[in-house]
Amino acid sequence: MAGSPLTRRSFLIVTASGIVAACSGDATSAPPVTTASTTTAAPTTTTSTLPPGPAFASDPFRLGVASGDPASDSVVLWTRLATDPLAPEGGMSPESVTIGWQVGADETMSDIVASGEAVADPAFGHSIHVELEGLEPARTYWYRFFVGDWETEIARTRTTPADADLADRLVLGHVSCQRITQGYWTAFDDLATHDLDATVHCGDYIYERNGSGIRTLDIPEPTELAGYRAIYAGYKADPSLQAAHAVAPWIVTWDDHEVENNYQGDVAQNGSETPDRESFLARRAAAYQAWWENMPVRLAAPVGSSLPIHRGVDFGRLVSLSVLDTRQYRTDQACAANDVGPRCEGSDGPDFTVLGAEQETWLSDRLASSDAVYNVLQQQVVMQQWRLLPGDAAWNLDQWDGYPAARDRLFDDLRSPDVRNPVVLTGDVHSSWVGSLATDFDDENAAVIGTEFVGTSISSDGGLLEPIIPAVLDQNPHLEWAQATRRGWTRHEITPTEWRADFREVEDATVPGTTVDVATSWVIPDGGAVVRA
Ligand SMILES: [Fe+2]
Repeated sequence: MAGSPLTRRSFLIVTASGIVAACSGDATSAPPVTTASTTTAAPTTTTSTLPPGPAFASDPFRLGVASGDPASDSVVLWTRLATDPLAPEGGMSPESVTIGWQVGADETMSDIVASGEAVADPAFGHSIHVELEGLEPARTYWYRFFVGDWETEIARTRTTPADADLADRLVLGHVSCQRITQGYWTAFDDLATHDLDATVHCGDYIYERNGSGIRTLDIPEPTELAGYRAIYAGYKADPSLQAAHAVAPWIVTWDDHEVENNYQGDVAQNGSETPDRESFLARRAAAYQAWWENMPVRLAAPVGSSLPIHRGVDFGRLVSLSVLDTRQYRTDQACAANDVGPRCEGSDGPDFTVLGAEQETWLSDRLASSDAVYNVLQQQVVMQQWRLLPGDAAWNLDQWDGYPAARDRLFDDLRSPDVRNPVVLTGDVHSSWVGSLATDFDDENAAVIGTEFVGTSISSDGGLLEPIIPAVLDQNPHLEWAQATRRGWTRHEITPTEWRADFREVEDATVPGTTVDVATSWVIPDGGAVVRA
């Protein structure tokens, strides 16, 4: 899905369709998000048929393309220029580059419905975010970028159903945790063969520590912007990841490794290279900017060390998706020497938070006003209870188990009869878990509030958890099933009467090209608890 030399054939298509540049971004005076309306009527005059930009001696689209944050009339198109992904600044010289983009009504791009130019600014890693407007709901579109003598392959995206519509069927991909050094991305190859309405990514898109493993990415652990950019370039140059981006819009949140393992708000992990608050926040600012530059998100460019990313994506009346951030605002687990132990003093009080006050209020209001059949939380850390040992001596404090009062506050919202079918999609632990969210996790007869699907990793190793699975399933009666040895992704097929989750597992992610099969399937009937299909 990287680019290729612009052919005479495609250039003639551009000319024949009579493109009018819809608008161009000016990254020097505003956040580099380009808003463009579609050209619905045939233009009467033809302008600007030449591809913009300088001549590149090699492909500047080595990082592929992506789309994301779909709405009923809009989607964000993304690319980032890099002629040599692992070279400093991706091999790019420090000048702005104007590139062209097109949106087509069919996969041959013979019917162009929108086009324009955008500026790839070196201040933002030569990334482009084009925010389209005026698209039709529940419709597939195709798009490409071009610059100089180069064009990208044609990629596919899709808008969401109109607000009032109840779709017959939606299909979502659910992925997380793609440590490049621990495996091949066969799961993405498989995902790319599916017709998806969107892919949701629950975080750990990159890892800050790489090096040698099943694959090698020889970039030191970063603390500054250039280093984070280099890691994204190393990951995004992978053709399997590019193929997965090219078939559907992605809705992305982050977890910890986009900055540093298990950081908590403004507090670095133990043993951090940036241990004090000031140096950690400078590092966080660099990491957040690099994430923004590399993700197809409908967010203004970051300023400083904070970047609010919680947002809603609605698929008509069938699915209301809330994208959460459980890292940036959480209370530090200052009592804990490591992740597992007794809960910290105060964690059962109102001051301990996972989401932070503003995000909590936003989510509470959003849930209260939803009329969707399924209310979905896309988030990072496990929400189910995992009692690791009998008694209260061992909880994973990085998960919601470390924040019981915050979880209770969220459950008070989710258990409202007005909030139908809560479904939580989670990543982080490199293993698959299916379970109910319950009013009392220790009472198997307690009322069920909703369902959590924890998706296994794309490639990150999770095998360390396998030995504890039998005991955790035994000590937590709301948990139904788990596995930690296999990598993969989860395909969710949603209709007005049923949610079906297929856990697609890779035979062996440590060698390329092994088979992918459905290991198990689970169903949530409308208004009911999850059951094995
Ligand atoms: Fe991870």
